[in-house]
Amino acid sequence: MKDQLESIKKDFSTAIEKVKSLADLADLENKFLGRKNGALTLAMKELKNLPKSKIAEAGQAANEIKKNIELKIKSLKAELSQTGSDGFFDYTLPGQESPLGHLHLVTEAIREIAAIFERVGFERMRYPEVEWDYYAFESLNMPKDHPARDEWETFFIDKSPISKKFGLPAKASATAGQRVLTPHTSNGQVRDMERGKLPIRMMNISKTYRRQMDASHTPMFHQFEGLVIDKDINITHLKGTIDYFVKNFFLPAGEAGGPDREIRLRPHHFQFTEPSFEIDVSCGVCGGKGCKLCKEGWLELAGAGMVHPNVLKAGGIDPNKYSGFAFGWGVERCYMMKSGLNIDDIRLLYKNDLRFLRQF
Ligand code: PHE
Repeated sequence: MKDQLESIKKDFSTAIEKVKSLADLADLENKFLGRKNGALTLAMKELKNLPKSKIAEAGQAANEIKKNIELKIKSLKAELSQTGSDGFFDYTLPGQESPLGHLHLVTEAIREIAAIFERVGFERMRYPEVEWDYYAFESLNMPKDHPARDEWETFFIDKSPISKKFGLPAKASATAGQRVLTPHTSNGQVRDMERGKLPIRMMNISKTYRRQMDASHTPMFHQFEGLVIDKDINITHLKGTIDYFVKNFFLPAGEAGGPDREIRLRPHHFQFTEPSFEIDVSCGVCGGKGCKLCKEGWLELAGAGMVHPNVLKAGGIDPNKYSGFAFGWGVERCYMMKSGLNIDDIRLLYKNDLRFLRQF
């Protein structure tokens, strides 16, 4: 049996050298692997007549030869299909298309948001994700142990006090020292003011972290934060800016295939804005009638308000001369609420399941 297999192997190697066309190749395939009379097929049929102790070994050897033959035939087939039998390569044949990917949905959303705000003069900034407590909380009018901090389910990095060599923020108190994974993009507010350039039209888009995980929360998500500071800024500017964004991001029914969208400002409380609001957008799934996702027709997408005088002071700005507004939204939530998408679980965005991602 061994000899028989060896000679099949050798015969095949010699025979494949002589193949010039696809027709030759088909003959060759038939000669060795043909169901009825293929040399290897016949040899394999003989296996069962061997003494029991030899069957396994010979079977394995035969299988290996078979695999090898199949592989060689396949690759020669591919080669011959490209080049005609006379060696002519037809350059006019359509090429093989390679699959075309696209940016991740969240990256696309971030670019779209940045572009919308750029058009009205917001400059995109980036501030640290691993942040001093001072910028994430204290400078935002939330002194240590303030109960409002509990709303942000914060990840703390370490307990050691910050030392000067790690760049202690100039105005931080000696006890401001813990580092956190920033739970919101508002950490950029005082940082931006500290650049010392007025007026301010800042857009801070960044990763943010909170200890939460369910259909509408992931421990890492993104926020975008707008901050405007100038003379005579009032609530109408805030409302106008938000209206502008919503109209441009959530396209009207005709263009996006969903219901028309509306916003409302609801009074709320944040330590760093006064007055403060939460911004609701009418649900894109049910059109505001109320459904499983939104319950009452509205979805809370953002927090906003007029910058608190203490925050301006922390950033070195005189609250008697300047005023401003700020708003912070969840990128993923906003994206999920686009008309016609109907994504009802935020975790889908981070599962990297191509069957999901390819739909967009
Ligand atoms: N930082 C707030 C949050 O994460 C949102 C906010 C930003 C509120 C700016 C007011 C002003 O919930």
